[in-house]
Amino acid sequence: MRILVTGGAGFIGSQVAERYLKLGHEVAVVDDLSTGSFHFVPEGARFYQMDILDPRLREVFREFRPEIVNHHAAQISVVKSTQNPEEDARVNVLGALRVIQWSLEFGVRRFIYVSTGGALYGEPVRLPCREGDPAHPLSPYGVAKLAVEHYLYSFYMTHGFRYVVLRYGNVYGPRQDPNGEAGVVAIFTQRMLRRQPVIIYGNGNQERDFVFVDDIVEANVLALEAPVQNGHPTAPIFNLGTGQGTTVKEIFYHLKRFTGYPLEARYDPPRPGEVFRVYLDASKAWREWGWKPQHSLQEGLRKTVEWFRQQEQTTSTPHRSQE
Ligand SMILES: NC(=O)c1ccc[n+]([C@@H]2O[C@H](COP(=O)([O-])OP(=O)(O)OC[C@H]3O[C@@H](n4cnc5c(N)ncnc54)[C@H](O)[C@@H]3O)[C@@H](O)[C@H]2O)c1
Repeated sequence: MRILVTGGAGFIGSQVAERYLKLGHEVAVVDDLSTGSFHFVPEGARFYQMDILDPRLREVFREFRPEIVNHHAAQISVVKSTQNPEEDARVNVLGALRVIQWSLEFGVRRFIYVSTGGALYGEPVRLPCREGDPAHPLSPYGVAKLAVEHYLYSFYMTHGFRYVVLRYGNVYGPRQDPNGEAGVVAIFTQRMLRRQPVIIYGNGNQERDFVFVDDIVEANVLALEAPVQNGHPTAPIFNLGTGQGTTVKEIFYHLKRFTGYPLEARYDPPRPGEVFRVYLDASKAWREWGWKPQHSLQEGLRKTVEWFRQQEQTTSTPHRSQE
């Protein structure tokens, strides 16, 4: 199949694109490299360095004629979305609408939309969250992701546009950006390996559903062809997580052990817009697609530390402490 992956130079999108290529699909990547890296674009993919809002995106669709669009490109920071909701909405709402618009015009068979399970439900009414539970996002980032889910439903009802929504937990693993303010595992790991201070925002008891990137990639493979019902708002939505909450403190202590970090964490006040406890019931993905995470937290963290360790060894530039 011809698959267009937006955000395919990023942490998750690049690994999805790579896997699609390995399965024999033809892949094009659109990414403006705002947070992604050219080095992550897999060999064999056509690469278009472009903002998804660039009018030339239509030409990409005309030329490549994707059958599937996998939409990973996004402004990913909850904190940035609270500071600049307009910029968040520009990329995450208007950008997504553009990609959907060209997908509609060029007859894309299925649109895979990457949403969030961590920032969409707000403070959950029950745990673990199910797809049909009330969604009251606390941050503009969550609001934008939810808005696009609603647009997709509307486009199915008005144009028969077929789609699937993947609501990720907290994805972690190799290639996650350790310099952003999202991605606690990547940030902690790099700082620990460099023996720099590690900051925990809040009391460290906040819980998240940490899911390893390889498992998320697998769900993106299933999402290509697995049966999906459209026409009911929650039918095409799939939570992807472990069903378990892990505190940020626990993550700190696992990583401390795996990296041999000698220091304790420093605590700073919590950041606005962040949910205290959230984890996802992904039993629907298991029932309907046979998907469940294959990596335990320990395994996933070990692999992540290993990857970051290799990066530290191969990077030639000397590291400067950030503080
Ligand atoms: N990492 C997580 O825990 C997590 C959780 C839930 C949802 N998600 C979603 O998964 C997707 C991928 O996130 P990620 O963690 O890999 O982050 P990432 O920042 O590595 O990936 C996003 C990619 O999109 C690109 N991009 C951003 N704005 C763009 C624009 N205007 N035009 C073209 N490209 C643009 C970036 O350069 C980057 O390569 C996002 O949609 C994110 O919201 C991630």
